[in-house]
Amino acid sequence: MIDGKKVLFSGMQATGTLTIGNYLGALQNWVKLSDEYECFYSVVDLHSITVRQDPAELRKRARNLLTLYIAAGLDPKKNCIYYQSHVSGHAELSWILNCFTYMGELNRMTQFKDKAAKHADNINAGLFTYPVLMAADILLYQADVVPVGIDQMQHLEITRDIAQRFNGVYGDVFTIPEPYVGKSGAKIMSLQDPAKKMSKSDENPNASVYLMDDPDTIIRKFKRAVTDSMARIAYTDEQPGIKNLLDIYCACTGKTSEEAVKEFDGSGYGDLKLAVGESVVSALKPVQERFAELSKDKAYIDEIIKENADKANYYAMKTLRKVQKKVGFPERIR
Ligand code: TYM
Repeated sequence: MIDGKKVLFSGMQATGTLTIGNYLGALQNWVKLSDEYECFYSVVDLHSITVRQDPAELRKRARNLLTLYIAAGLDPKKNCIYYQSHVSGHAELSWILNCFTYMGELNRMTQFKDKAAKHADNINAGLFTYPVLMAADILLYQADVVPVGIDQMQHLEITRDIAQRFNGVYGDVFTIPEPYVGKSGAKIMSLQDPAKKMSKSDENPNASVYLMDDPDTIIRKFKRAVTDSMARIAYTDEQPGIKNLLDIYCACTGKTSEEAVKEFDGSGYGDLKLAVGESVVSALKPVQERFAELSKDKAYIDEIIKENADKANYYAMKTLRKVQKKVGFPERIR
């Protein structure tokens, strides 16, 4: 609790270009929850270097992502929006938690298996202990809630396990976090292969809709979306392509799947694709406009970066000192 409010933590990697999966599955919910909680939103650049990055590119993407958080509607005076690398407590707590995490647990992480397969030439230890750093991110702020897409649920579970294990030894040190997953949009699938998650790193540019795509590109990608030959619009696992389109539509419009199915009753797939594309265009338009404006205001963004790094450090150090004391590190002499 901070000033009587429950704490929320979440983060995103500045790797690749954000997709509507990131927006509808996470960022949009962050904005919805931001009044209710004391929020920490991190640009998790430490996580990004588990895969090789071009330094200049990473720096640029990290800044764009931080700007995008604000453009999406998060007030940086109320929400702590900051770079993970500006708070050394993340790495320090991560080390301590590494000593409370088992190799067997990490071996079971599906994201590790996927990424290891994709980057077979660079299966580094950071990739393996990635979930521990994520646990440190969350536990460092004593977060009560963590809004994420479904793909991060396994990492949330291991975070809870690590926290409970630590608390079991040292008493109630960490708050046990709960995941928050939205009703729609929690798992947006590829437009070219609805069995696969929409991802920043997909090689097929038609598979993902990017947050900065212009309206024509968005509509074109939806028109090419892979569907089926069943010629009916229903929200069912038998029709993953149509289900995905309806899901995107619901996440953009706030409608339920029942309402959407009713609305498109009797329509053809072409009409559905166009309507979904248009709903995405209208959802992204204000974000894109604010992003363009904010990007011009270097001084404002710099000020946010400075202020929020100080704020994040303050809360991070509070937890870190407590943890260091619990595990038996000697106190500093001042
Ligand atoms: P990342 O950067 O891959 O994704 C950021 C957020 O977007 C969600 N997401 C999706 N949601 C719905 N459909 C999709 N196709 C889709 N693709 C991505 C993710 O679930 C996530 O919420 N390890 C994390 C970043 C992280 C983090 C944290 C998150 C680091 N520390 C602590 C929460 C708490 C990641 O790589 O997310």
